[in-house]
Amino acid sequence: MTGLQALLPSSVVCVETTTDRDIELYPQERAAIERAVPKRQAEFTTARWCVRQALSRLGLPAAAVVPQERGAPGWPPPVVGSITHCPGFRAAALALRADVLSVGIDAEPNEPLPVGVYEAVSCARERADRVRLGHLGVAWDRLLFSAKESVYKAWYPITHRSLDFTDVVVRIEPDGTFEARQLVAPARVNGTTLSGFSGRWAARGGLIVTAVVV
Ligand SMILES: CC(C)(COP(=O)(O)OP(=O)(O)OC[C@H]1O[C@@H](n2cnc3c(N)ncnc32)[C@H](O)[C@@H]1OP(=O)(O)O)[C@@H](O)C(=O)NCCC(=O)NCCS
Repeated sequence: MTGLQALLPSSVVCVETTTDRDIELYPQERAAIERAVPKRQAEFTTARWCVRQALSRLGLPAAAVVPQERGAPGWPPPVVGSITHCPGFRAAALALRADVLSVGIDAEPNEPLPVGVYEAVSCARERADRVRLGHLGVAWDRLLFSAKESVYKAWYPITHRSLDFTDVVVRIEPDGTFEARQLVAPARVNGTTLSGFSGRWAARGGLIVTAVVV
């Protein structure tokens, strides 16, 4: 297991699995993926298994979680959360809305990004940091990418604003933390001004995982 839960506060319940689960989907969930390729159906279904386990651990009944605007998951009203899947790994992190404003999690293979992607998703400041972390045995470009995906997954559901990879500067620390600073106008959400995010990361079992909690 990747230890994603260890990157999150105890108010956030994270369920992860390396095995696909064949559960009965709700009709709305089934409708969302009935034309998808088998790989997509498997990741979607197993992520819903993770969601239901997490809902149960929060003391809540199972519920449908269907992709909404721009793919963001439609959570039952009492919860916020985030889903990630990559080859051989699926996870969902959920918390009560009363405790947490938003969550973002992401998992990626600990392998370099395809040629050209790193340049497209990073800025000069971040590329200079790469040297500083070069000794860690982590695919640093992939870690940066994952941190930004976690930021976006936490950002979008509460702002409904897009965020480009170069709209955020991420500073990754060797101690397993990162800070993300927005270069776009801050957002006001529930009386909180969002101009940046604090996150955590880990690399284990061939995967890089990142998490952001607001
Ligand atoms: C949405 C996105 C982050 C998903 O990442 P991914 O690596 O493709 O896929 P993952 O398996 O890790 O995550 C997929 C899950 O993300 C969630 N997701 C999709 N769109 C989302 C959104 N707009 N907001 C929040 N979560 C979203 C969904 O729950 C999805 O799983 P599901 O379809 O089974 O419900 C990515 O496709 C994307 O659009 N990135 C561009 C925007 C971005 O990252 N900007 C960086 C700003 S610094």
